[in-house]
Amino acid sequence: MTLIDELNQLEREAMAALDGVENLAALAEWKSAFLGKQGAFSRLSRGLGALPAAERPAAGARFNAARAALEQALEQAEARLKDAERQHAFEAEQVDVTLPGRAPSVGRLHPTTQILRTIYSALGEMGFQVWESPEVETDEFNFQLLNMPPDHPARDMWDTFYLETAPGEPTLLLRTHTSPGQIYAMRANAPNPVRAILPGKCYRYEQVTARHEMQFYQVEGIAIGERISFADLKGTLVAFAERLYGKAVRTRFRPSYFPFTEPSVEFDIECFLCSGEGCRVCKHSGWLEILGAGMIHPTVLRNGGYDPEQVSGFAFGMGPERVAMLRYGIDDIRWFFSGDERFLQQF
Ligand code: DAH
Repeated sequence: MTLIDELNQLEREAMAALDGVENLAALAEWKSAFLGKQGAFSRLSRGLGALPAAERPAAGARFNAARAALEQALEQAEARLKDAERQHAFEAEQVDVTLPGRAPSVGRLHPTTQILRTIYSALGEMGFQVWESPEVETDEFNFQLLNMPPDHPARDMWDTFYLETAPGEPTLLLRTHTSPGQIYAMRANAPNPVRAILPGKCYRYEQVTARHEMQFYQVEGIAIGERISFADLKGTLVAFAERLYGKAVRTRFRPSYFPFTEPSVEFDIECFLCSGEGCRVCKHSGWLEILGAGMIHPTVLRNGGYDPEQVSGFAFGMGPERVAMLRYGIDDIRWFFSGDERFLQQF
């Protein structure tokens, strides 16, 4: 067999092998087997040197032509395979545009936020402006200025989280109620009249139950000026209840005790769950307490910078979660801090 015969055979073999190549990886193998530096073509072309000088030019030309033919075939195969791979990818990534879409889930306001806003607008329309005061308080503001000196027995009404403080530093605590905010609002306005509400979060060292949480909101309210009376307090709170629960709502005041008010009351709304029949939520009383209130104690007025001989005032402190429970029919306060989407999606 002459060198040219061998070349012809190699060319046929290579072309036949190329037809069987089905992907780019196999094509790379084909290329190195036939056209690579150590490939069959290079090996065969080494035989050119052994030919008689007269045959060499023609044989060399034939080798060049064969190599060019194989390279061209390689290029074509490469183009064909790339096309096929792209086509394959298109098919694999096809999107069914007729499938119904998935709606993105949209956030919403927490029921506490919603009820706070309702409270702001109900009381805002009666002329109350919104104030805020710190969540970390001193013993002085949380208790003493509210007429509870150290060791006052009424402090037991508020189970308190204390913060660690260095010896000699003032005692710090998480406020147990928003009432210390009264002092800030008074001092900023005395001796002028003031009508303000102070919303915010409070904390108590409590056994957590359906009605009690360790963290909850309160909205404090004060109204101070000349001749403000208990009738003003009652009128304001009843109007507030009607605004939130409708004109037909049944309410009641009960005498109570708070060190910072005299006289003091608690304000109840008919239980939403049993309509006054008595159930688990209202502890079988038919009523739910939503706030404490009263006429501001003269000592507290004085601590706020007012002269109790000149002015009087009322104050109240309500639990917005309680207000929301009544308004939306929620039977357990723990839902508010559960973060449970099934609960939140309902508002
Ligand atoms: N601070 C009281 C509490 O947390 C609620 C309260 C009662 C607030 C009477 C008042 C008030 O402003 O006058 O239980």
